Amino acid sequence: MRTLLIAILLCCVSVAANAESGHGGPKMLNANVDLGNTESLQRGAKLFVNYCVSCHSANYMRYGRVAADLGIPEDVMKANMMFTTDKIGEPMQIAMKPTDAEAWFGVTPPDLSVVARSRGPDWLFSFLNGFYLDPAKPTGVNNIYFPSTAMPHVLAELQGLNRAVFETETQHDVEVQVFKQFESERPGTLDDTAYRKATRDLVNFLVYVGEPAKLVRYALGVKVIAFLLVLWIVAYALKREYWKDVH
Ligand code: HEC
Repeated sequence: MRTLLIAILLCCVSVAANAESGHGGPKMLNANVDLGNTESLQRGAKLFVNYCVSCHSANYMRYGRVAADLGIPEDVMKANMMFTTDKIGEPMQIAMKPTDAEAWFGVTPPDLSVVARSRGPDWLFSFLNGFYLDPAKPTGVNNIYFPSTAMPHVLAELQGLNRAVFETETQHDVEVQVFKQFESERPGTLDDTAYRKATRDLVNFLVYVGEPAKLVRYALGVKVIAFLLVLWIVAYALKREYWKDVH
């Protein structure tokens, strides 16, 4: 029994140590999204339709559902947020043909319906904050979290463009380039804080798209607690009524 306990303890310690050291890549940023924040989800949806659906679809999500879940009036949705269709019941598809996309980028931009679940919010947030200038690439940019990605920096007008500073370090007798920091080459329309906020909203929206039922569960949770509270009051009053004669 004691050996088993020690083994479990050692396992935990090594898992924690691994998490601490990462996998040698750059440190992941913390997305810190808040699904309860409807305004953030609305801003994220707006960014998504303006900057992402030209290349990526979210085939498992319909415009009508987004409008209903996020409290966006249908006419606002139709007028300002639907560029690929005029039917509110349609899924969020792209206008471009997948074969064209492949010809332009060498790879089809993947559907983003469940990307928040496959990659995780922190990775998405880091990725959107990880672009830097790299003249050797066809898109002119590279990404420290997704090296040699075929995706252009589509949010460059918001963030501006960064240079990445790397330092050469020797790890296990091998020289490696380690990312140190970004330096701004050209500012965008948003400053650092506002860009982080915008990308956090966008990731928040992608988390919602990945599991829309989460919002329903949150709303249901509050109702269940309210119901239990009322039930408790009634049950307590009943108990007092029954015990009145006994005392
Ligand atoms: C001009 C076309 C284009 C636009 C616009 C675009 N992307 Fe991409 N995106 C791509 C391509 C191409 C890839 C595939 C990259 C690769 O595999 O190297 C990609 C990959 C991704 C991935 C990685 C998916 C995975 O799991 O591998 C994510 C996440 C992503 N895009 C998010 C976004 C978001 C969010 C937006 C909107 C802000 C956006 N993209 C806008 C072309 C685009």
